[in-house]
Amino acid sequence: MYVRSFYDSDGDGIGDLGGVRSKLDYLQWLGVDAIWLSPTFPSPNVDWGYDVSDYLDVHPDYGTLGDLDAVIADAQRRGIEVWLDLVPNHTSIRHPWFRDHPDYYVWSDDVPNDWTSLFTHESAWTFDENRRRFYLHQFAPEQPDLDWWNPDVRREFERIIRFWFDRGVAGLRVDVAHGLVKDRDLRNGIDHMRDRPEVLEVYERWQKIAAEYDPKPTLMGETYVPPARLWRYATQLDLVQNFAFLRAPLRVESLRPLVEEVEAKLPSDRSPIWFGSNHDHSRLATRWAGGDERKARAALFILLTLRGTALLFQGDEIALTDGVVPPERITDLADPPRDPERSPMPWTGDGGEWRDPWLPLGDTSRNVESQSVDPLSTVGFVRSLIELRRELAGSRYASLPSEPGVWAYARGAATCVVNLTGREARHEGRRLAPWETLLD
Ligand code: GLC
Repeated sequence: MYVRSFYDSDGDGIGDLGGVRSKLDYLQWLGVDAIWLSPTFPSPNVDWGYDVSDYLDVHPDYGTLGDLDAVIADAQRRGIEVWLDLVPNHTSIRHPWFRDHPDYYVWSDDVPNDWTSLFTHESAWTFDENRRRFYLHQFAPEQPDLDWWNPDVRREFERIIRFWFDRGVAGLRVDVAHGLVKDRDLRNGIDHMRDRPEVLEVYERWQKIAAEYDPKPTLMGETYVPPARLWRYATQLDLVQNFAFLRAPLRVESLRPLVEEVEAKLPSDRSPIWFGSNHDHSRLATRWAGGDERKARAALFILLTLRGTALLFQGDEIALTDGVVPPERITDLADPPRDPERSPMPWTGDGGEWRDPWLPLGDTSRNVESQSVDPLSTVGFVRSLIELRRELAGSRYASLPSEPGVWAYARGAATCVVNLTGREARHEGRRLAPWETLLD
C-alpha cells in the first residue's frame, strides 16, 4: 500500500502508520493476507521515500519505529503479514554513507559510457564537486547507485534485512531488483547497467538469511525485465513481478499467452504473481477499464482467480480511478508524473477523513464506506472472490476453448470464464453479458 495516501490518523494531510493500524480491521474483513508498505524509511523525499537516508528507522511523517512495531504486531494478530519496500539499488545522496563511505558508490574519473538516467533521460553520471569525480545514478542525481561489487555494501544490507526480519517483517519487496549489479567494466550499452546475472548471488545470500527465520520471509522482486528473462530471477526470488502483464491491454489475445508462458516457464517450485496497478502506473480502473466498473471487475476477477498471488493496489478493490492532479499540485519528479495513481484513498463519500491532503482527493463516489455495506459493490465482489480463491489455492491453471473475446480456464475442478468484450457472448451454452464473469 502507498502509506502516504492510505489513511491519515493525525490530521496533517499525510497517511501514516497510525492510519495503517486503524484500517487493519478493514483489511482483515477484505481477506488480505499480507500488506506491502511503500518505503517507510527516513528520506528527503526527492522520490517519495525511494531515496532512503536511513534504512533502520521510520520517517517522522509516518510515525516512529514503535508505530511500525505496533502495525506488525496488530497485523500478526489478524493473520496479516507486513512486508517492507527495501531500496537496495541506491540511497539518498543525503545518506551518511555518501559522505563517510564513498567507496560504497560507483565512481568514475570521466563519463565512462552512454548510460542514461530513467528520470532525467540524460547521462546517468553526475560530477561531484567534493570528490572531483562522477558518480552513477540510474534514477535522479539525488539517488546515487550503490556499488554491489563492494562486499561491505553486501554486508550492510545483510545487517539491514536481519534488523527488519528480527522485528517481525515477513517479506520484502525489492526495489529495482534487476538493477543492483552493474557491469564491472562499465561498458557502453544500457544492457550493461541492469539485469546482470551476478545479482542473483545477492538474493541467494538473502534467502539463506531469510531461511533462518520461521516462517521464512518472502522476497518479491520488482523485476522490470521481459518475460523471457524473468525465470532466472525466480531461481532466487520467491515472487517475480511480471510487468508485461500489467502493460498488456485487457484483451484475451494479449493476456492469455502471457499467463500460459508463465505457467509453462516459471520454475515448478514457484508460484506466479499477478497485478494490474501500483504506485508507478495508472490504476487498472483507469488504464484497463477507462473508468467502467464492469471492466474493472473483469480485471479483478482475472487477478484473483489465476493461480498464484494476487497483488492489489489500494483502491483497486473499489475500482478507484486515477486522481486528477492539476499541474501546480504535481509532486513527482518522473515524466509523466505518477501523482494521479498516488492520490488519497477515499474512505467516505464526503472525503471528510482527508483534511488538506498532500495530493488532491479525487472523485469520492467510489469509496469504502458506501461499498462495504453493499455485497453487490465492487468491494463486495472482491471480498467474495478472495474467500473463494482460498478453495482454488494450489489447483492448476489450464486454458479452455472459448469463443473470441472470452477467456475460459480451469483451476482444478473449477471453471473461470470472463467475457472481455463489450458485447454479449456465449460459453458452453451460457449467455455472458458484456464484461461478465462466471466461476463454477
Ligand atoms: C521503483 C519504485 C519507484 C521509484 C524507483 C526508484 O521503480 O517503484 O517508485 O521511483 O524504483 O527508486
